Amino acid sequence: MSQRSLRDPIFRRSADSERVMAFAPGKIILFGEHAVVYGRPAIAVPVLKVRAEATIQPASSKAVLVSAPDIGRQYEIDDAPIDDPIAAIVRAVCEHLSEVPAGFQLQVHSTIPVARGLGSGAAVSVAVARAISGFFQKKLSSEDLSDLAFKVERLHHGTPSGIDNTVIAFERPVYFVRGERIQSFQVARPFLVAIADTGVAAPTKVAVGDVRRAWEAQRDRYEALFDQVGAIVGSARTAIETGRIDHVGKLMDENQALLRKIGVSSSEVDRLVEAARKAGALGAKLSGGGRGGNIIAIVEDANLERVEQALQAAGAVNVMATRVE
Ligand code: PMV
Repeated sequence: MSQRSLRDPIFRRSADSERVMAFAPGKIILFGEHAVVYGRPAIAVPVLKVRAEATIQPASSKAVLVSAPDIGRQYEIDDAPIDDPIAAIVRAVCEHLSEVPAGFQLQVHSTIPVARGLGSGAAVSVAVARAISGFFQKKLSSEDLSDLAFKVERLHHGTPSGIDNTVIAFERPVYFVRGERIQSFQVARPFLVAIADTGVAAPTKVAVGDVRRAWEAQRDRYEALFDQVGAIVGSARTAIETGRIDHVGKLMDENQALLRKIGVSSSEVDRLVEAARKAGALGAKLSGGGRGGNIIAIVEDANLERVEQALQAAGAVNVMATRVE
C-alpha cells in the first residue's frame, strides 16, 4: 500500500487497486460558534489526531452495502431512510460524479466521538466522498467535497453555517463567514490547544434550535451578543497572525463568557474550563455546539501535562492536544 498526502483525495489504494481507503480529520472551532450561524465570522482548525475512514471495495451486488461496525449497523442504501447521512452522501456524490450508486461495498469507521463538537458528521461525509471519488477515479476538489458534505450537514442540524464541512474538506485553518469564499490566514507562532471531552453527548441541532428560539424572543439582545462575538473573532485572527498567543487565550475567555450568556455552556463545560484556567491555561472555552461536548484550552508547551492532568482530575473522559500551525 502506498501512503499519500492527507490532502490527496485518495489516501491509500490497495496493491491490487481494488480497495480504496480515504480519510478526513476532525475539527475544533477556536472562536465564533453559534454567532457564525447569524453571519458573524468564526475560526476553525482541523484536528488530525482523530479521523473518519471510509473503505470501498467492488461488490457484485447491485446495491451499495454499508457497514458501520462502530455503531453496529449494516444496511443497503436503498433500504435506508431518506435522512440517513451515509446513504445521503453516497447518493449525492454519485449524482455529482454521474455514477450509479451500485457495485461497491462501503465500510465506515471513525475515531471522532459523535455529538462532541469535533465534526464527526462532516468528517464521515468527506471521507466517504473522497473514497467514492477514488473508486470511480474522478477528482473532487476541496470545494466540491465541502459542498457535498454541506448537503448532508443540513440533515444533521437544519441550519448549519457550513463551517464544519469547510474546515474538514480544506484541512487548514479557516476564517469563515457563512456564504462567503473561504479565507485562510497565517499562524505566525504555532500554539498548542488541549481538547477535553466532558463526556456529555450534546447534539448540535438541539443547541442551535434553542439559540434560534432565544434569538426570536430577544432579537436585540442576541444580535448584540453575536456582534461582540464577531468582534472577538476579528481580534483573535489578528492576534494569531501576529503571534500574540497570550492575547488569543484572553480572547478565548471572553468568547466563553459570551457563550454562557448565549446559553450554550453547561456545568460540565464550566468545570473543565475552570480547571484548565486554574492549571495555567492561557484561556479556555467550549468548542462547537456546546451544552457538553469538548472544551478547548490554549496551553504553553511546558504546561501541557499539568493542564491535561487537571482536566482529567476535573472529570474529562478524554484529553488530547493539537498544534495549530
Ligand atoms: O457542534 P458542531 O461541531 O457541529 O459545531 C457547530 C457550530 C455551530 O456554530 C454551533 C453551528 C454551525 O452550524 O455553525
